[in-house]
Amino acid sequence: MSIVEITANDLDVEKFIKDKTADISKAVGNDTAINALSGGVDSSTVTLLGHMALDKKLKTYFIDNGLMRKDEPQEVVSIFSKMGVNVEIIDARQEFFAALKDIDDPEKKREAITQTFYKKVFGRLVKESGAKHLLQGTILTDVDETVAGIKRQHNVFEQLGIDPQETFGYKIIEPLLQLRKDGVRKVAEGLGLPEVIFNRPPFPGPALAARVIGAVTPEDVELVRQATVIMEEVFGDMDSFQNMAILHKDRVTGMRNGKREFGRQIEIRCWESTDARTATPMRVDYKTLFYLADRITKEVRGVVSVTYHIAEKPPSTMEVV
Ligand code: XMP
Repeated sequence: MSIVEITANDLDVEKFIKDKTADISKAVGNDTAINALSGGVDSSTVTLLGHMALDKKLKTYFIDNGLMRKDEPQEVVSIFSKMGVNVEIIDARQEFFAALKDIDDPEKKREAITQTFYKKVFGRLVKESGAKHLLQGTILTDVDETVAGIKRQHNVFEQLGIDPQETFGYKIIEPLLQLRKDGVRKVAEGLGLPEVIFNRPPFPGPALAARVIGAVTPEDVELVRQATVIMEEVFGDMDSFQNMAILHKDRVTGMRNGKREFGRQIEIRCWESTDARTATPMRVDYKTLFYLADRITKEVRGVVSVTYHIAEKPPSTMEVV
Protein backbone atom coordinates (compact mmCIF):
# COMPACT_ATOMS: atom_id res chain seq x y z
CA MET A 1 0.00 0.00 0.00
CA SER A 2 1.50 3.32 -0.99
CA ILE A 3 1.41 6.15 1.52
CA VAL A 4 -0.06 9.50 0.45
CA GLU A 5 2.07 12.29 1.87
CA ILE A 6 0.46 15.26 3.61
CA THR A 7 2.96 18.12 3.43
CA ALA A 8 3.19 20.59 6.31
CA ASN A 9 1.79 23.25 3.95
CA ASP A 10 -1.25 21.21 2.99
CA LEU A 11 -1.92 19.98 6.51
CA ASP A 12 -5.23 20.94 8.13
CA VAL A 13 -4.30 20.29 11.76
CA GLU A 14 -7.83 20.18 13.18
CA LYS A 15 -9.08 17.83 10.49
CA PHE A 16 -6.00 15.62 10.89
CA ILE A 17 -6.58 15.31 14.66
CA LYS A 18 -10.27 14.56 14.13
CA ASP A 19 -9.62 11.98 11.40
CA LYS A 20 -6.81 10.21 13.22
CA THR A 21 -8.54 9.95 16.58
CA ALA A 22 -11.54 8.47 14.75
CA ASP A 23 -9.26 6.02 12.89
CA ILE A 24 -7.56 4.93 16.12
CA SER A 25 -10.90 4.41 17.91
CA LYS A 26 -12.18 2.35 15.01
CA ALA A 27 -9.02 0.24 14.72
CA VAL A 28 -8.88 -0.59 18.43
CA GLY A 29 -12.62 -1.04 18.92
CA ASN A 30 -13.30 -2.72 22.25
CA ASP A 31 -9.72 -3.95 22.64
CA THR A 32 -6.93 -2.18 24.45
CA ALA A 33 -3.70 -0.69 23.11
CA ILE A 34 -0.30 0.23 24.43
CA ASN A 35 2.38 2.63 23.25
CA ALA A 36 5.88 3.69 24.11
CA LEU A 37 6.65 7.32 24.78
CA SER A 38 10.22 8.55 24.35
CA GLY A 39 9.48 12.26 24.66
CA GLY A 40 10.28 12.93 21.02
CA VAL A 41 7.69 14.91 19.10
CA ASP A 42 6.50 11.82 17.15
CA SER A 43 5.84 9.52 20.11
CA SER A 44 4.46 12.43 22.17
CA THR A 45 1.97 13.30 19.44
CA VAL A 46 0.87 9.69 19.13
CA THR A 47 0.52 9.42 22.91
CA LEU A 48 -1.83 12.38 23.02
CA LEU A 49 -3.82 11.38 19.93
CA GLY A 50 -4.11 7.90 21.42
CA HIS A 51 -5.32 9.12 24.79
CA MET A 52 -7.85 11.41 23.12
CA ALA A 53 -9.14 8.48 21.09
CA LEU A 54 -8.91 5.68 23.65
CA ASP A 55 -8.63 7.26 27.09
CA LYS A 56 -8.24 4.42 29.61
CA LYS A 57 -8.01 1.82 26.86
CA LEU A 58 -4.47 3.03 26.12
CA LYS A 59 -1.56 2.30 28.44
CA THR A 60 1.62 4.31 27.86
CA TYR A 61 5.11 3.20 28.86
CA PHE A 62 8.49 4.88 28.83
CA ILE A 63 11.02 2.16 28.05
CA ASP A 64 14.25 3.05 29.83
CA ASN A 65 16.76 1.35 27.56
CA GLY A 66 19.78 2.90 29.29
CA LEU A 67 20.49 4.83 26.08
CA MET A 68 18.55 8.01 26.78
CA ARG A 69 19.94 11.43 27.62
CA LYS A 70 20.58 12.46 31.22
CA ASP A 71 17.39 12.43 33.36
CA GLU A 72 15.23 12.07 30.23
CA PRO A 73 12.85 9.34 31.47
CA GLN A 74 11.85 11.26 34.62
CA GLU A 75 11.56 14.61 32.80
CA VAL A 76 9.31 13.24 30.06
CA VAL A 77 7.07 11.37 32.48
CA SER A 78 6.69 14.53 34.54
CA ILE A 79 5.65 16.62 31.50
CA PHE A 80 2.92 14.11 30.63
CA SER A 81 1.79 13.73 34.21
CA LYS A 82 1.09 17.50 34.24
CA MET A 83 -1.12 16.93 31.17
CA GLY A 84 -3.05 14.19 32.96
CA VAL A 85 -1.40 11.29 31.11
CA ASN A 86 0.01 8.60 33.33
CA VAL A 87 3.20 6.97 32.00
CA GLU A 88 4.91 3.98 33.52
CA ILE A 89 8.71 3.68 33.31
CA ILE A 90 9.97 0.19 32.43
CA ASP A 91 13.57 -0.47 33.40
CA ALA A 92 14.96 -2.48 30.48
CA ARG A 93 18.57 -1.24 30.69
CA GLN A 94 20.14 -4.65 31.27
CA GLU A 95 18.25 -6.23 28.41
CA PHE A 96 19.37 -3.62 25.89
CA PHE A 97 23.02 -3.65 26.93
CA ALA A 98 23.05 -7.45 26.85
CA ALA A 99 21.58 -7.42 23.32
CA LEU A 100 24.11 -4.83 22.12
CA LYS A 101 27.16 -6.52 23.60
CA ASP A 102 30.09 -6.81 21.16
CA ILE A 103 28.04 -5.68 18.13
CA ASP A 104 30.06 -3.33 15.92
CA ASP A 105 28.04 -3.18 12.74
CA PRO A 106 25.52 -0.26 12.56
CA GLU A 107 22.71 -2.23 10.99
CA LYS A 108 23.16 -5.14 13.41
CA LYS A 109 23.05 -2.66 16.29
CA ARG A 110 19.79 -1.27 14.97
CA GLU A 111 18.43 -4.78 14.53
CA ALA A 112 19.42 -5.75 18.10
CA ILE A 113 17.57 -2.69 19.43
CA THR A 114 14.54 -3.43 17.27
CA GLN A 115 14.32 -7.03 18.42
CA THR A 116 14.83 -6.15 22.09
CA PHE A 117 12.26 -3.39 21.92
CA TYR A 118 9.51 -5.07 19.91
CA LYS A 119 9.97 -8.72 20.66
CA LYS A 120 11.31 -8.91 24.19
CA VAL A 121 10.13 -5.80 26.03
CA PHE A 122 6.93 -5.09 24.12
CA GLY A 123 6.18 -8.76 23.66
CA ARG A 124 6.18 -9.05 27.45
CA LEU A 125 4.14 -5.89 28.01
CA VAL A 126 1.56 -6.95 25.44
CA LYS A 127 1.23 -10.33 27.13
CA GLU A 128 0.93 -8.81 30.59
CA SER A 129 -1.52 -6.10 29.56
CA GLY A 130 -3.60 -8.20 27.14
CA ALA A 131 -3.34 -5.39 24.54
CA LYS A 132 -3.85 -6.30 20.89
CA HIS A 133 -2.52 -3.09 19.38
CA LEU A 134 0.63 -1.02 19.54
CA LEU A 135 0.40 2.64 18.59
CA GLN A 136 3.57 4.15 17.22
CA GLY A 137 4.83 7.37 15.69
CA THR A 138 6.48 6.19 12.48
CA ILE A 139 6.76 9.08 10.00
CA LEU A 140 7.27 9.13 6.25
CA THR A 141 11.01 9.90 6.42
CA ASP A 142 11.55 6.74 8.52
CA VAL A 143 9.81 4.70 5.83
CA ASP A 144 11.65 6.37 2.91
CA GLU A 145 15.11 5.76 4.31
CA THR A 146 14.39 2.21 5.38
CA VAL A 147 12.84 1.21 2.07
CA ALA A 148 15.71 2.89 0.18
CA GLY A 149 18.08 0.71 2.22
CA ILE A 150 19.92 3.74 3.64
CA LYS A 151 19.24 3.09 7.30
CA ARG A 152 17.00 0.54 8.92
CA GLN A 153 14.80 2.72 11.14
CA HIS A 154 13.96 0.61 14.12
CA ASN A 155 10.22 1.22 13.82
CA VAL A 156 9.46 0.27 10.20
CA PHE A 157 7.99 -3.16 9.42
CA GLU A 158 5.13 -3.48 6.98
CA GLN A 159 6.95 -1.59 4.25
CA LEU A 160 9.70 -4.19 4.55
CA GLY A 161 7.23 -7.04 4.19
CA ILE A 162 7.32 -7.84 7.94
CA ASP A 163 3.91 -8.65 9.42
CA PRO A 164 4.02 -7.41 13.04
CA GLN A 165 1.08 -9.62 13.99
CA GLU A 166 2.95 -12.70 12.84
CA THR A 167 6.39 -11.62 14.03
CA PHE A 168 5.55 -9.99 17.36
CA GLY A 169 1.98 -11.06 18.07
CA TYR A 170 0.27 -7.64 17.92
CA LYS A 171 -1.00 -5.11 15.37
CA ILE A 172 0.71 -1.78 14.84
CA ILE A 173 -1.24 1.46 14.28
CA GLU A 174 0.75 4.34 12.76
CA PRO A 175 -1.28 7.57 12.66
CA LEU A 176 1.63 9.81 11.55
CA LEU A 177 2.71 7.80 8.54
CA GLN A 178 1.67 10.51 6.04
CA LEU A 179 3.61 13.29 7.75
CA ARG A 180 7.18 14.48 7.97
CA LYS A 181 8.72 16.12 10.99
CA ASP A 182 7.50 19.65 10.19
CA GLY A 183 3.91 18.37 9.87
CA VAL A 184 4.14 16.42 13.15
CA ARG A 185 5.30 19.58 14.96
CA LYS A 186 2.19 21.42 13.74
CA VAL A 187 -0.07 18.61 14.98
CA ALA A 188 1.77 18.52 18.32
CA GLU A 189 1.24 22.23 18.79
CA GLY A 190 -2.40 21.88 17.74
CA LEU A 191 -2.85 19.20 20.40
CA GLY A 192 -1.65 21.64 23.07
CA LEU A 193 1.64 19.92 23.84
CA PRO A 194 4.18 22.27 25.46
CA GLU A 195 6.88 23.90 23.33
CA VAL A 196 9.66 21.74 24.84
CA ILE A 197 7.86 18.88 23.13
CA PHE A 198 6.55 20.34 19.87
CA ASN A 199 9.88 22.02 19.16
CA ARG A 200 11.99 19.22 20.61
CA PRO A 201 14.97 18.41 18.40
CA PRO A 202 14.64 14.94 16.90
CA PHE A 203 16.33 12.13 18.77
CA PRO A 204 16.67 8.77 17.07
CA GLY A 205 14.89 5.60 18.23
CA PRO A 206 18.24 3.85 18.89
CA ALA A 207 19.06 6.88 21.08
CA LEU A 208 22.68 7.24 22.23
CA ALA A 209 23.52 3.84 20.70
CA ALA A 210 23.34 5.73 17.38
CA ARG A 211 26.01 8.09 18.72
CA VAL A 212 28.60 5.51 19.78
CA ILE A 213 30.63 4.19 16.87
CA GLY A 214 31.40 0.50 17.36
CA ALA A 215 30.20 -1.75 20.16
CA VAL A 216 27.96 -0.07 22.75
CA THR A 217 28.91 -0.40 26.41
CA PRO A 218 27.33 1.31 29.43
CA GLU A 219 30.65 3.14 29.97
CA ASP A 220 30.77 4.54 26.43
CA VAL A 221 27.12 5.54 26.55
CA GLU A 222 27.90 7.44 29.76
CA LEU A 223 30.77 9.30 28.02
CA VAL A 224 28.60 10.34 25.10
CA ARG A 225 25.80 11.25 27.51
CA GLN A 226 28.13 13.63 29.37
CA ALA A 227 29.36 15.17 26.11
CA THR A 228 25.72 15.59 25.04
CA VAL A 229 24.85 17.50 28.23
CA ILE A 230 27.74 19.93 27.62
CA MET A 231 26.96 20.28 23.91
CA GLU A 232 23.31 21.05 24.67
CA GLU A 233 24.32 23.63 27.29
CA VAL A 234 26.80 25.37 24.97
CA PHE A 235 24.60 25.30 21.87
CA GLY A 236 21.61 26.38 23.96
CA ASP A 237 19.07 28.04 21.72
CA MET A 238 20.99 27.45 18.48
CA ASP A 239 18.52 27.68 15.63
CA SER A 240 19.47 24.30 14.18
CA PHE A 241 17.43 21.22 13.24
CA GLN A 242 19.47 18.84 15.41
CA ASN A 243 22.78 18.77 17.29
CA MET A 244 24.72 15.73 18.37
CA ALA A 245 27.85 14.55 20.13
CA ILE A 246 29.31 11.28 18.85
CA LEU A 247 31.90 9.04 20.46
CA HIS A 248 34.45 7.55 18.07
CA LYS A 249 35.80 4.08 18.39
CA ASP A 250 39.41 4.85 17.51
CA ARG A 251 41.70 6.34 20.09
CA VAL A 252 44.18 9.09 19.23
CA THR A 253 47.32 10.38 20.88
CA GLY A 254 46.78 13.38 23.07
CA MET A 255 48.65 14.99 25.95
CA ARG A 256 47.61 16.10 29.40
CA ASN A 257 49.74 17.55 32.16
CA GLY A 258 52.83 17.00 30.02
CA LYS A 259 52.13 13.29 29.63
CA ARG A 260 50.97 11.23 26.65
CA GLU A 261 47.29 10.24 26.80
CA PHE A 262 45.94 7.75 24.27
CA GLY A 263 42.47 9.17 24.45
CA ARG A 264 38.96 9.24 23.02
CA GLN A 265 37.48 11.44 20.31
CA ILE A 266 34.15 13.24 20.29
CA GLU A 267 32.65 14.49 17.03
CA ILE A 268 30.09 17.30 17.08
CA ARG A 269 27.41 17.69 14.43
CA CYS A 270 25.02 20.61 14.17
CA TRP A 271 22.54 20.32 11.30
CA GLU A 272 20.36 22.75 9.43
CA SER A 273 17.44 20.98 7.75
CA THR A 274 13.70 21.23 7.30
CA ASP A 275 12.66 17.62 6.85
CA ALA A 276 15.84 15.55 7.48
CA ARG A 277 15.98 14.38 3.87
CA THR A 278 18.90 16.69 3.17
CA ALA A 279 20.93 18.63 5.71
CA THR A 280 23.76 21.15 5.89
CA PRO A 281 26.21 21.65 8.74
CA MET A 282 25.53 24.92 10.53
CA ARG A 283 28.24 27.61 10.38
CA VAL A 284 28.76 27.70 14.12
CA ASP A 285 31.20 30.43 15.11
CA TYR A 286 34.67 29.39 16.17
CA LYS A 287 34.43 30.99 19.59
CA THR A 288 31.51 28.70 20.46
CA LEU A 289 33.24 25.65 19.02
CA PHE A 290 36.49 26.36 20.91
CA TYR A 291 34.55 26.81 24.14
CA LEU A 292 32.69 23.55 23.54
CA ALA A 293 35.93 21.67 22.81
CA ASP A 294 37.54 23.13 25.91
CA ARG A 295 34.66 22.02 28.13
CA ILE A 296 34.38 18.54 26.66
CA THR A 297 38.13 17.82 26.92
CA LYS A 298 38.17 19.09 30.50
CA GLU A 299 34.91 17.57 31.73
CA VAL A 300 34.55 14.25 29.90
CA ARG A 301 37.08 11.79 31.19
CA GLY A 302 39.64 10.56 28.67
CA VAL A 303 38.54 12.75 25.73
CA VAL A 304 41.50 14.43 24.02
CA SER A 305 40.01 15.31 20.63
CA VAL A 306 36.86 17.16 19.55
CA THR A 307 36.03 17.59 15.86
CA TYR A 308 33.24 19.40 14.01
CA HIS A 309 31.53 17.69 11.08
CA ILE A 310 31.35 19.76 7.87
CA ALA A 311 30.02 17.45 5.15
CA GLU A 312 26.44 17.72 3.88
CA LYS A 313 23.72 15.07 3.76
CA PRO A 314 24.02 13.47 1.23
CA PRO A 315 26.55 11.89 1.11
CA SER A 316 26.65 11.99 4.93
CA THR A 317 23.63 10.97 6.94
CA MET A 318 22.72 12.92 10.05
CA GLU A 319 23.50 10.19 12.57
CA VAL A 320 26.72 8.20 12.24
CA VAL A 321 25.20 4.78 12.85
P1 XMP B 1 19.75 10.09 9.22
O1 XMP B 1 20.86 9.67 10.12
O2 XMP B 1 19.06 8.92 8.58
O3 XMP B 1 18.70 10.78 10.16
O4 XMP B 1 20.18 11.12 8.20
C1 XMP B 1 17.55 11.46 9.70
C2 XMP B 1 16.71 11.79 10.91
O5 XMP B 1 16.15 10.59 11.45
C3 XMP B 1 16.58 10.39 12.80
N1 XMP B 1 16.82 8.96 12.95
C4 XMP B 1 15.94 8.10 13.49
N2 XMP B 1 14.72 8.30 14.01
N3 XMP B 1 14.52 5.99 14.45
C5 XMP B 1 14.02 7.24 14.49
O6 XMP B 1 12.92 7.42 15.01
C6 XMP B 1 15.73 5.69 13.95
O7 XMP B 1 16.15 4.55 13.91
C7 XMP B 1 16.49 6.81 13.44
N4 XMP B 1 17.70 6.94 12.86
C8 XMP B 1 17.89 8.25 12.57
C9 XMP B 1 17.84 11.23 12.94
O8 XMP B 1 18.08 11.57 14.30
C10 XMP B 1 17.51 12.41 12.05
O9 XMP B 1 16.67 13.34 12.69
